[in-house]
Amino acid sequence: MCGIVGYVGLRETPGRELYALDYVLEGLRRLEYRGYDSAGVAVVADGAVDCRKKAGKVSSLDAELAANPLPDAVLGIGHTRWATHGGPTDVNAHPHVIDHGRLAVVHNGIIENFAELKNELTGKGYTFESETDTEVAGTLVADYYNKDAGRDLTEAVRLASQRLEGAFTLLAIHADHPDRIVAARYNSPLVIGLGKDENFLGSDVSGFIQHTKQAVEMDNNQIVTITATDYSIIDFDGNPVSGKPFEVTWDAAAAEKGGFNSFMEKEIHDQPSAVHDTLLGRLDETGHLTLDELRIDESLLRSVDKIVVIACGTAAYAGHVARYAIEHWCRIPTEVELAHEFRYRDPIVNEKTLVVALSQSGETMDTLMAIRHAREQGAKVIAICNTNGSSIPRESDANLYTHAGPEIAVASTKAFLAQITAAYLLGLYLAQLRGNMFADEIGEVLSELQAMPEKIQTVIDGADEIKAMGTEMGDTESVLFLGRHVGFPVALEGALKLKEIAYIHAEGFAAGELKHGPIALIEPGQKVFVVVPSPRGRNALHSKVVSNIQEIRARGAETIVIAEEGDEAVAPYANHVISVPASPTLLQPLLATVPLQIFACAMAEAKGYDVDQPRNLAKSVTVE
Ligand code: G6P
Repeated sequence: MCGIVGYVGLRETPGRELYALDYVLEGLRRLEYRGYDSAGVAVVADGAVDCRKKAGKVSSLDAELAANPLPDAVLGIGHTRWATHGGPTDVNAHPHVIDHGRLAVVHNGIIENFAELKNELTGKGYTFESETDTEVAGTLVADYYNKDAGRDLTEAVRLASQRLEGAFTLLAIHADHPDRIVAARYNSPLVIGLGKDENFLGSDVSGFIQHTKQAVEMDNNQIVTITATDYSIIDFDGNPVSGKPFEVTWDAAAAEKGGFNSFMEKEIHDQPSAVHDTLLGRLDETGHLTLDELRIDESLLRSVDKIVVIACGTAAYAGHVARYAIEHWCRIPTEVELAHEFRYRDPIVNEKTLVVALSQSGETMDTLMAIRHAREQGAKVIAICNTNGSSIPRESDANLYTHAGPEIAVASTKAFLAQITAAYLLGLYLAQLRGNMFADEIGEVLSELQAMPEKIQTVIDGADEIKAMGTEMGDTESVLFLGRHVGFPVALEGALKLKEIAYIHAEGFAAGELKHGPIALIEPGQKVFVVVPSPRGRNALHSKVVSNIQEIRARGAETIVIAEEGDEAVAPYANHVISVPASPTLLQPLLATVPLQIFACAMAEAKGYDVDQPRNLAKSVTVE
């Protein structure tokens, strides 16, 4: 939710051809997935702050800058917005320039006490141009700067931060200080990037990975001041603190489209390696599963009597898959809950509860708040996360990182498959630890898992038919998805993908629930995807789903069936059969989801929509 970039360099560095604005714009383009309602940049040059901002995407800002260029500068800040307070207009776009044009701020988050502060500042004679909480926060910084802080920008930001409630990452630059950016962080993301004679700030490392892999994590309630050659961090009380340096493992090229039409398409194709990389390094030389990052006392994990999986959106559907696997392998009662519901229903959690939080970005505020609540009740939290240095792993007791690489498209694809893979590993690890499964049984599942990247590749390579269907069905107004067992969350995810990027009505149902109501929706021509479990293994499940297909076909539905290759039983009732390689039922989501992603992507493209940046959405939702 909102992307923030800051850059400071030295003008005299030999060989440097880019100036601050280039770095800031480049960072904004990479962070645009975080919000794209408006964009803006500000620089300090020739003793003044200069700013350009525009409603719309970064491309609208580019046009504005071409028409009205900014002066060369060695320092700049930028922002790409997902509107909260105040609509997506030019005036409400960030940066906000305050203090007679001498101070500029950008902000991510929500200042909850902004109305109260606005009244106070209005009483002191300040006026406001925009409807944003950001302008209020910036005005507060200006007020402190010119009075109590004695024109010390770091001190002004510190004093203002002590007064702000809610969530904020706030970057400030001032005409009096052409060498520094000051940034405060509270409940919103911010990382520092360290270069040679240049330093960066970003909402996440994508804001600067093309220039440096050396980064520093900051905690909440901290303020950093960066110059071209240095950075220093203090807490909100003014005490010096040190950040946590880390090296970014993502490759800059991983954040490029690599010849695909969209990031989503590229990320769908990244899935074999996302799953492969998530499985890497998890076995010791004896074939024993070792999750090194899981630094939780083993006796504690043995005593767990309940698991609660919390997440939002696509990650929550990965959580549903996790539940089937964990309960089956570990025999531990497992619940899955949307993080925003969990926290407010007074859930029963205690020291014997293990909470598993799933999040690609590691910044989803609803999930973060749920983690805090669970830990306050004594539960231990394991985060399954894709982003090093983000808030959720930092605030959890232990982490299991997915290695999907940067996911840029708003609609999640490879992170979903990587989350499911990591959840399987966690389930198997707990089963090993608690003695629920024999080593050879675990080994069998692990080798099935290791075969998955190749099978996913087979699904991707054979996707022409499903892609063509997505393109042809561009004018379809409603699509239903049915599944049972682990096929149910796959159906939910298939429907979510269509809603997110093709903007059509789509719903996922448990196939068994159909006859209890949703079957009334079936009319001639209604498109229905059905995820069919393997005919091997859980046979009863397979035949029940085949009956469900018959029921809807009898009422005129057009059925698109995702089934295991060689499954002859579905053919008579399917208008289209999409085959996926054979796999154990519990692992099938890794294969069955892929055609649904490809279908949604093709349909959205056929409708001419921006697949990577769907309307009204943002990838990382850092407000509650
Ligand atoms: C937003 C995104 C979804 C994502 C969800 C959870 O709603 O649009 O694609 O699934 O957040 O994100 P997380 O980063 O926590 O996995």
